[in-house]
Amino acid sequence: MPITINAGQRIFKLDTPNTSYICAVSDEPGYLGHVYYGTRIVDEDVTYLLRTAENPYVPSQNRRDKLSFMDCYPFEYPAHGTGDFRECALKVRTEEGYTACELHYAGYSLEDSVSGPMPGVYGENGQVLTIELKDECLGLKVLLKYTVFDDCDAIIRHTEIISTGMTLYLERALSASFDMDNDGCELITLNGTWARERHIDRKPIAHGFQGVYSGRGETSHQHQPFLGIVSKDCTYISGEAIGVNLIYSGNFYAGVYEGQFDNLRIMTGINPEDFEWKLGAGESFTTPQTALVYSKEGLGGMSRAFHDLYRNHLIRSTWKDKARPILINNWEATYFDFNEEKLLAIAKEAADSGIEMLVMDDGWFGRRNDDNSSLGDWFVNEDKLKGGLKKLVDGVNALGLKFGIWFEPEMISPDSDLYRAHPDWAIAVPGRTAGLARNQYVLDISRKEVRDHVFKVLSDILDNANIEYVKWDMNRPLSDLASLELPADRQKELSHRYVLGVYELQGRLMERYPGLLLENCSGGGARYDAGMLCYSPQIWCSDDTDAIERLMIQEGTALVYPLSTMGAHVSDCPNHTVGRVTPFETRGYVALAGTFGYELDITRIPAQDRAMIPGQVKMYHMYHELVAAGDYYRIASYSENRLYDSWMCVKKDKSGALLTFIQVMGRANCHSRRIKLQGLDPGKTYRIYRFDMESVSEQPYGPEKAYRGDTLMNAGIIINSLWGDYKGILLHIISEGS
Ligand code: DGJ
Repeated sequence: MPITINAGQRIFKLDTPNTSYICAVSDEPGYLGHVYYGTRIVDEDVTYLLRTAENPYVPSQNRRDKLSFMDCYPFEYPAHGTGDFRECALKVRTEEGYTACELHYAGYSLEDSVSGPMPGVYGENGQVLTIELKDECLGLKVLLKYTVFDDCDAIIRHTEIISTGMTLYLERALSASFDMDNDGCELITLNGTWARERHIDRKPIAHGFQGVYSGRGETSHQHQPFLGIVSKDCTYISGEAIGVNLIYSGNFYAGVYEGQFDNLRIMTGINPEDFEWKLGAGESFTTPQTALVYSKEGLGGMSRAFHDLYRNHLIRSTWKDKARPILINNWEATYFDFNEEKLLAIAKEAADSGIEMLVMDDGWFGRRNDDNSSLGDWFVNEDKLKGGLKKLVDGVNALGLKFGIWFEPEMISPDSDLYRAHPDWAIAVPGRTAGLARNQYVLDISRKEVRDHVFKVLSDILDNANIEYVKWDMNRPLSDLASLELPADRQKELSHRYVLGVYELQGRLMERYPGLLLENCSGGGARYDAGMLCYSPQIWCSDDTDAIERLMIQEGTALVYPLSTMGAHVSDCPNHTVGRVTPFETRGYVALAGTFGYELDITRIPAQDRAMIPGQVKMYHMYHELVAAGDYYRIASYSENRLYDSWMCVKKDKSGALLTFIQVMGRANCHSRRIKLQGLDPGKTYRIYRFDMESVSEQPYGPEKAYRGDTLMNAGIIINSLWGDYKGILLHIISEGS
């Protein structure tokens, strides 16, 4: 099994197929230290790495300089206030206002079944190690939980904090922390803004603190709860990479601290800013889980480990491994200006082209003709949809299409019946006018009565018609924090309670409608995170549907999240966000790297584009399984080379692969380009076919001969000149005999 415990020496070793993670307890008074995280090794006793032998200040030998020991020991879960002056994982305050805390080892337990907080991982083939730490003075118990599966190169950590004696306030309660030497490492984070989410940022790690966080009550467009700590020579193919990804959808914190001895502390959890949790005697607090991944196959290996973990042990939907229906969403087609006639016309044309579902976006309820009103009034606007929702859904179904609907359940417009009836349900500080964003407030989802109301109105709509998909949107961050139900010493619990409320609502929804396909969204991709993936197998990636901007957004997203989760649509041109004009064919190739759908008025786009849709639909059905279930390899990055982009999806048994190549910028006097494939079986022979959009069939590509995988991966293949900018090509690589 993956976890080995040397009880005598108090060494804990967690093995995954290719990695080992080791922590151990040092001598009296028993501090838990981080020993090793890296390539799988056999020896378990490598505790010399704790450096206690070379440390003249070990408290058991030299009490007069304990603080020097505390400030350099590689604590596995560092606590604040007793001499470790670096950033810490835990800060506790007593009612008197004291903040000193010191954690000592108190025992362990091992379970052969995986159970943990929601959102979180699950699976039959895992073990959970619990290491118990204690602060006797505070009556505080800290349980460090480590989950490991035997089929996945990931360690999943979280922490449970229990007060056994007195009331305590958690000022900081991170999910995980561990220390390592900084050997010239670099830090990768994913940053951006609305319509430009998750661009890859890489910089050397320097002394002091570097990191990212969200204080917006959601993950945010701006930063991701992800850290990549990579060796300087790390590429997509080689070098060392540690990935850290918090499974959470609210205010997060993810950072590294390089201390005076060039050592690194890597930390992640709920953002301590504006957070505090009151723990009464006997109460406990559970942090979100965080996934750790180590790869010596560079960033590519790191991504594949995250993808496998999330596909096999996190995403729960009944749609997880199924082909998602190709949808057409009316947002960019009509915005708020639609009625049932328009929608049915789109549905009719879509059905004729092979599209499988119509999604009715924002604007179908209350009196919502723009974004100034009606959030909260979830009854159908019969001025727009004459005869009601059921009639429309039945009409769409009669055309052979499924029906999906948009909601923004967490919001309330000041101009709404709901606000007029319950102004106190909006988050606002009493006596202070709360700030609006998109002319809306946020409902206090931490309150049960509010959640119950939201659930009722949602289920009334879903029970009324055959709705098979929900897009759950959230279009503003939280501000002006106050909850009328919380006492003063619990106000700082609101942001986390809010997120727990959202999870509870989505959990309830999925329990009542297990077959529902849920897609999370937040003004594009502000809630693209692993927490949301527990409830929805796909998330809207970005409001930017431009194929070229999407190359960068999707590259950053795929660094952590499986392609099967990336909401990606073909839209009309000039693109509504950046004004760029790209070939319809290329837009299809880029959307194929995600869930694949359309976001345009199919009745009005150019005839030659519309004529291509049946072929694209066929293309999706030919290749979606490779994309959704395959191993992802990055061949080239436009964000690095500013010329072209390329990626591959390889079948797990290596019998086939799909290569996408997008030439973003044509280059003068550059007739062709050689690229090296990845992920194939070196000993298998492969033939290459090009997907021909015109004939919607595969045509032999390159020399009419089969080549071994090692040739294709080392010598490479030639991509023939693609005349012009924004051109794409799709190659199917098939092993002989398969
Ligand atoms: C933001 C989403 O990202 C869009 O796709 C669309 O649903 C709008 N909200 C609707 O208001």
